[in-house]
Amino acid sequence: MTAEYMSLAQPLAAAGYTGLVSVMASVANTSLGMALAQRIFDGGNYTIFAPDNDAIARLPMNITSDPEMLANILSYHIVSGNFSEGNGSLQAATFPNDTIARTTLNATDLVMLEGNKSQVLVWTSENGTVMIQNQLGTKVAVSNSTVLGNFLVNGINGTLMYPTNLTSTLNSRNLTSLADVLGSISASNSTNETLADKLEGLTGYTLFAPSNMALEAASQTLSSLASNTTALTNVLGNHIINGSTLYSTGLANSTSASGETLSFTTNSSGTFVASSSGSTTVAMAKIITTNVLVNNGVVHIIDTVLGNTESNSSAASSAYESAVSVAAAAATTTETGLVTGPTGASSSSNGENGDSNGGNGSSSGGNAALTPGVDSKWLFMAFSAIVFALL
Ligand SMILES: *[C@@H]1O[C@H](CO)[C@@H](O)[C@H](O)[C@H]1NC(C)=O
Ligand SMILES: *[C@@H]1O[C@H](CO)[C@@H](O)[C@H](O)[C@H]1NC(C)=O
Ligand SMILES: *[C@@H]1O[C@H](CO)[C@@H](O)[C@H](O)[C@H]1NC(C)=O
Ligand SMILES: *[C@@H]1O[C@H](CO)[C@@H](O)[C@H](O)[C@H]1NC(C)=O
Ligand SMILES: *[C@@H]1O[C@H](CO)[C@@H](O)[C@H](O)[C@H]1NC(C)=O
Ligand SMILES: *[C@@H]1O[C@H](CO)[C@@H](O)[C@H](O)[C@H]1NC(C)=O
Ligand SMILES: *[C@@H]1O[C@H](CO)[C@@H](O)[C@H](O)[C@H]1NC(C)=O
Ligand SMILES: *[C@@H]1O[C@H](CO)[C@@H](O)[C@H](O)[C@H]1NC(C)=O
Ligand SMILES: *[C@@H]1O[C@H](CO)[C@@H](O)[C@H](O)[C@H]1NC(C)=O
Ligand SMILES: *[C@@H]1O[C@H](CO)[C@@H](O)[C@H](O)[C@H]1NC(C)=O
Ligand SMILES: *[C@@H]1O[C@H](CO)[C@@H](O)[C@H](O)[C@H]1NC(C)=O
Ligand SMILES: *[C@@H]1O[C@H](CO)[C@@H](O)[C@H](O)[C@H]1NC(C)=O
Repeated sequence: MTAEYMSLAQPLAAAGYTGLVSVMASVANTSLGMALAQRIFDGGNYTIFAPDNDAIARLPMNITSDPEMLANILSYHIVSGNFSEGNGSLQAATFPNDTIARTTLNATDLVMLEGNKSQVLVWTSENGTVMIQNQLGTKVAVSNSTVLGNFLVNGINGTLMYPTNLTSTLNSRNLTSLADVLGSISASNSTNETLADKLEGLTGYTLFAPSNMALEAASQTLSSLASNTTALTNVLGNHIINGSTLYSTGLANSTSASGETLSFTTNSSGTFVASSSGSTTVAMAKIITTNVLVNNGVVHIIDTVLGNTESNSSAASSAYESAVSVAAAAATTTETGLVTGPTGASSSSNGENGDSNGGNGSSSGGNAALTPGVDSKWLFMAFSAIVFALL
């Protein structure tokens, strides 16, 4: 191990994290491990999620024998910035709100967010225990926190896995109807690309994904539109914000891929997304699960199909241009505070926000937040596929 890693490994071992130290030893000499060291020993503050020894011991052979994968996994356990409360414990929002921050995981084959952003980690305090979100099938909790120099080290009872692609994520979240359809339908006659492949090829997007029950409930409405390709295309596009990954902490008025307005309200029964055409609200859904992470964006699960058949193509394209330029401007900054708005701006409760863009993007009313030029042919294919699956 390099002297830098040793400077962290020694106190970690003394605190009992010998399994994690052995992981550090096996990645220290890989190129990813060296890049990670260069990053985290830059004098900045980092928040480390440290798996206990039992968690490390449970890692399967196919992971422990792969130093490159281990290095990426380790990167996903390290968050840029100091997320300690005054009393030295980990800062955490109360469920159902989330705390969202950027990790150091940025490998281009695992993370495809706008502006080359690193993948985020999401955690929340549930009944007084801080739980890491998106750890499919396993509950990972923070047991205690310790300050070691520039590092806030939080013990956890599992090893964190980074988000995977849309298809595997939808399947593991019971969005099987959507997953089946997207994965089985060809998006093009000249290649074997499926609709799922198309979505998986985007760089940053927000998908409002109807639950299985929502799709079933809408089947009659959707099938009545089956002959109107324009209307169907518009409906699917009204579920997507392309070019902007908007987590629950940054939901702001946005323009959908169909060029219509998506707006958000929160009251005592939850957060709702509305799809409007001009000043008329056409459809509304409750967001039943927020912040389902995928490698190239975020999914929020909704209880109702947003049946807005309208579109505004000039609004869609200008919004897309805006999203692209905002993402490009944000690409040079490193977020060290809470991830909120779409610009890459971050707010910080501890005064160490390193952003250079003024941090005001999250409250801009949405102009900068906006969307995508999604190819209309595959949008249509997607929606007709859903309709046919339901007929
Ligand atoms: C990822 O971050 C490291 C520093 O942590 C940097 O050296 C590397 O160039 C980044 N890789 C990409 C693909 O942005
Ligand atoms: C690290 O965090 C401490 C405590 O919040 C703060 O005083 C210091 O300025 C931070 N250092 C950097 C480089 O941001
Ligand atoms: C490791 O192997 C298990 C089966 O033994 C498999 O389920 C898992 O997906 C594999 N993990 C990776 C990262 O290849
Ligand atoms: C969640 O955040 C909202 C908006 O900031 C706030 O009004 C609400 O009280 C928070 N809920 C909890 C449980 O902290
Ligand atoms: C908190 O505890 C209550 C009662 O024990 C339980 O019903 C609820 O599901 C828990 N909430 C979470 C988010 O775990
Ligand atoms: C981790 O702790 C949480 C909260 O106590 C618990 O629900 C979960 O089962 C624990 N996980 C493991 C693998 O022990
Ligand atoms: C902190 O939590 C870790 C992981 O659960 C555990 O190994 C360690 O013994 C705990 N340390 C203290 C001081 O409680
Ligand atoms: C998505 O992930 C699944 C499971 O890991 C994998 O089988 C599939 O090939 C992936 N799809 C793409 C397009 O990479
Ligand atoms: C594929 O070919 C069929 C039959 O010519 C046509 O109806 C359909 O629109 C084509 N699909 C795409 C995605 O080009
Ligand atoms: C599509 O898949 C079929 C069967 O696997 C194969 O024969 C064909 O060459 C593929 N077409 C393209 C364009 O990749
Ligand atoms: C999954 O979705 C089906 C509806 O298709 C529903 O009946 C079932 O309860 C859901 N399961 C979970 C675990 O949410
Ligand atoms: C198809 O849908 C579009 C968009 O909603 C609408 O303007 C058009 O009138 C519809 N066409 C028919 C034949 O219903």
